[in-house]
Amino acid sequence: MSNVLISPSILAADFARLGEEVRAVDAAGADMIHVDVMDGHYVPNISIGPVVIEKLRPHTKKPFDVHLMISPVDAYLEAFAEAGADIITAHPEAGPHFHRTLQVIKKLGKKAGAALNPSTPADVLDPVLEELDLILVMSVNPGFGGQKFIESQLRKIETIRTKLDRADLKTILEVDGGIVPGNAQAVIDAGATALVAGSAIFGKGAARYAAEIAALRGR
Ligand code: DX5
Ligand code: ZN
Repeated sequence: MSNVLISPSILAADFARLGEEVRAVDAAGADMIHVDVMDGHYVPNISIGPVVIEKLRPHTKKPFDVHLMISPVDAYLEAFAEAGADIITAHPEAGPHFHRTLQVIKKLGKKAGAALNPSTPADVLDPVLEELDLILVMSVNPGFGGQKFIESQLRKIETIRTKLDRADLKTILEVDGGIVPGNAQAVIDAGATALVAGSAIFGKGAARYAAEIAALRGR
């Protein structure tokens, strides 16, 4: 079994029982909890904000891996940090001052991530590579769970893996969208060190959370 990190996306959980769902995936072996924040502006869907993260915080000690699909982003970073986010990931496509966004996240004492849409090239990362604690490659277009994995993103994961290895960086390389046990190994082989999965875990019912998380770890 690989030592890839598994970050279940609570977007696919039962929102009426979120605390219980977070405790269940924690007990089932999740390494982090992926929180998708959508604003109905940067992406065509609306999910949750800092208040929900704050209420979930006492339910687990695992890191909150917060994926911000919002624009503008800078004005909200402090609220997410105070709510209990551990890693805060933003999209460079969401605003003109991404370097500033990263500096604000780090000043707040949190780990900083960059998320790339499927059409965004890996080279966008070059000027900020050393500033990043996490790189999130989106393998679906952001906005919705349950979409099909976009195969072309495997090449982008390989490209980023090469960049990180050349620079001797231990940055987490996370892949998000359409991950299922059937493609997880290919994503790991391409160089990912963390996998986000929503429907592949929460869609199967609580009795199967541990088995699904184990299946995503691959060989
Ligand atoms: C999409 C989100 C993903 C999504 C993953 O905008 O960033 O985290 O919830 O869900 P699945 O695993 O169902 O594709
Ligand atoms: Zn996400």
